[in-house]
Amino acid sequence: MSVLVTGGAGYIGSHVVRLLQERGDQVVVVDDLSTGERDRIGEASLAVIDLARDDSVEKLAAAMGEHGVQSVIHIAAKKQVGESVKRPAWYYHQNVGGTANLLQAMEQAGVSKMMFSSSAATYGMPDVPEGTLLDEDVTPSPINPYGESKLACEWMIRAAGTAYGLRSVNLRYFNVAGAGWPDLGDPGVFNLIPIALQALTSGRQPSVFGNDYPTPDGTCIRDYVHVLDLADAHLAALDYLDRDDQPYDVFNVGTGHGASVTKVLDQIAGSTSLEVTPTVAERRPGDPATLVADVSRIESTLGWKATNDLAAIVDSAWRAWQH
Ligand code: WQD
Repeated sequence: MSVLVTGGAGYIGSHVVRLLQERGDQVVVVDDLSTGERDRIGEASLAVIDLARDDSVEKLAAAMGEHGVQSVIHIAAKKQVGESVKRPAWYYHQNVGGTANLLQAMEQAGVSKMMFSSSAATYGMPDVPEGTLLDEDVTPSPINPYGESKLACEWMIRAAGTAYGLRSVNLRYFNVAGAGWPDLGDPGVFNLIPIALQALTSGRQPSVFGNDYPTPDGTCIRDYVHVLDLADAHLAALDYLDRDDQPYDVFNVGTGHGASVTKVLDQIAGSTSLEVTPTVAERRPGDPATLVADVSRIESTLGWKATNDLAAIVDSAWRAWQH
């Protein structure tokens, strides 16, 4: 199969590309290399294209035609919540505008199958009883432009299904971490595990943003999913698009199990043998106490289930950090 992967040179994309290559698919990477790196994609073809530019539609359609592309995995996006709050129009332009251009190119080239990287950020601060697992039927209510842009993309993709038969799977990622190979670690330091590793390896202690939440140890609980499991979910989604006629689906990608900030930091101490004595800081605005995925839909429909636990995630993140 010939698959075009946008954002294929990035942290998550490069894992998807490597798994596709391992199973023998032909891979075309589209990446603007703003955060992606050329040496992460092996032998895959690379088209350096900024999706949000007006001229991207022609370039993308040409790349799809040239490589006989049958499916698109759309991962490329801006993904920093704080930055999206400061630059909302740019986030909409990059994420929503980029997706609009990609859809136009797919229509032009006659490519009708798409997997889209969405996010648990679409849920916002869900109005459900504390501790409830979030299923896909919870009404999305994003609280920042990043989450809004992802939800707007989901809507646009769904509308393309109604309009001209695009078939899509939208994966709502929870907290992605770890590394499938030591050379494919997360190069960005924007999330808890890399932030804590950077602090500890620079002789500082990590901060815990609030320890008075209504959770057993008072710190926020998240659903950490290994990036290799997540990448594997993309392959399962692609196979599902080949065998099912469903026009539009959305699935959570998580483990169904939560870990508190304290638990993650304890695991980091265990994996690194570094001394971890975190400082307690103020709550970070916009942090829900608990966000854990209900993963029954993806398990029953795609037959996908995460296999790596928190220890495997942190061990692999640490190996990649030292790479
Ligand atoms: C995890 C927990 C923090 C740093 C974000 C995006 C979300 C998705 C995943 C893309 C929280 C706490 C963090 C620190 C801490 N991204 N923390 N000290 O906010 O759950 O999710 O990444 O789709 O959209 O919002 O992830 O890693 O920032 O935080 O105590 O130095 O760790 O408060 O409870 P988050 P995170």
